[in-house]
Amino acid sequence: MENLCLLVFLLFFFPLLPLQSTAASEYVRQPPRPIILTHHNRSESDPQQVHISLAGKDHVRVSWVSGTHRVPSVVEYGKTPGRYEASAAGESTKYQYFFYSSGKIHHVKIGPLEPATTYYYRCGESGPDFSFRTPPATFPIEFAVVGTSFFPCLCFWMTYHFSLSPTANSVSTGDLGQTEWTASTLTHVNASDYDVFLLPGDLSYADSQQPLWDSFGRLVEPYASRRPWMVTEGNHEIETFPIIYPHGFKSYNARWPMPYRESGSKSNLYYSFNVAGVHVIMLGSYTDFDAGSEQYKWLEADLAGVDRRETPWLIVLLHAPWYNSNAAHKGEGESMRKAMEEMLYRSRVDMVFAGHVHAYERFTRVYDNKADPCGPVHITIGDGGNREGLAFLFEKPSPSISEFQEPSFGHGRLRILDGKRAHWSWHRNDDSDCVVADELWLESLSSSRACMPTSSAEDLQGSSASAATREEL
Ligand SMILES: *[C@@H]1O[C@H](CO)[C@@H](O)[C@H](O)[C@H]1NC(C)=O
Ligand SMILES: *[C@@H]1O[C@H](CO)[C@@H](O)[C@H](O)[C@H]1NC(C)=O
Repeated sequence: MENLCLLVFLLFFFPLLPLQSTAASEYVRQPPRPIILTHHNRSESDPQQVHISLAGKDHVRVSWVSGTHRVPSVVEYGKTPGRYEASAAGESTKYQYFFYSSGKIHHVKIGPLEPATTYYYRCGESGPDFSFRTPPATFPIEFAVVGTSFFPCLCFWMTYHFSLSPTANSVSTGDLGQTEWTASTLTHVNASDYDVFLLPGDLSYADSQQPLWDSFGRLVEPYASRRPWMVTEGNHEIETFPIIYPHGFKSYNARWPMPYRESGSKSNLYYSFNVAGVHVIMLGSYTDFDAGSEQYKWLEADLAGVDRRETPWLIVLLHAPWYNSNAAHKGEGESMRKAMEEMLYRSRVDMVFAGHVHAYERFTRVYDNKADPCGPVHITIGDGGNREGLAFLFEKPSPSISEFQEPSFGHGRLRILDGKRAHWSWHRNDDSDCVVADELWLESLSSSRACMPTSSAEDLQGSSASAATREEL
């Protein structure tokens, strides 16, 4: 009986305990706000929470949830709306978390698909028609990069739009400001086109309150069903519970499988993929990374397999930043940096994106805390919307390697034009306008003779259209 009381007590209170990855944080987050769920309002057997991800060469994985278990894990698809020339069957899973039982979670891999092509599809043989566009096979390609803390704010936005009656207008202007800013971030991401969505962790902020995963899935469906969403885990996905759920990531792994098997990884917590001429590596900040760990060995092998003639660009995403001059989460990425930075440096990784800190910060090319022309540019992609969650405390004066710091909301765009040139921009939300606050032209390290003096740069020179053109750029 006492045990039962303890369990009930824990069940009520553990969701309120902040999930901190390490103890180093001095940053105090504001108390959580009431969250209103996005309800499923199609029929019970109709798909909900539809999202797609890249799943190996020319394939896409379609994931969704159905309320009833009779629904088959089948996706019908084709290039004409409502006419399905092909169909594929996949697998399904479900999970239990304390008293919560998930719906049937379907994952179906479809393909081979043509590049830069719109496909129309239907999930589980009923319900609405969805569509997505596959990424291009060659440059240019554009990524939308959205940082941590984007989505709980949408919940604030929903709170305002769906739950408050006109008389219950006790929301402070501060809240309203945030909610509008959040809504505009989302609109901005969707308003201008992109090929692939990248998210370095912290998806639902469910923090063990499982229905919030469903709510999150419904919330992002209009976007995540149209373009591939490639994610890696943040601390808010951990959801461990002593003894009962010691391993964590139960909901994340069930709902957001990424192409880890396709990339030779044994864990959904780290993987890689190729798209156009870019090799993207998603690392796991919340699983072992020390020398000798599975992740370390996998990364070593993955990097060794990268052919910079095929993928001249090499970018990495992870959750807890290795470089950070903000007081928030300072030092949390340090042990991972120490374990893995040299490997990334030797492989001439072009850029490293992180989340976690609720601010935007861009570093110069850096290696081992010093500016280095052959190191990656490190960017903390910061905050999508929660004003009170912003991290204002940057070190003063800024370290010389930190080139831009700003505690604002927004999202980033990485447009890769060809094997050599890329444009990065950070779009701050100013009122309802989307303003480019920071931008940068980059050259791939694979095109640098200084950084790749051995075979690969020579080969690249040989395989490029003309060496003269390169010199001009
Ligand atoms: C479903 O709910 C959304 C708001 O959450 C609303 O805009 C939409 O019209 C609803 N659809 C149906 C079929 O009721
Ligand atoms: C996103 O943008 C596309 C293309 O402009 C538009 O058709 C779609 O309705 C937008 N989605 C949402 C949810 O606003």
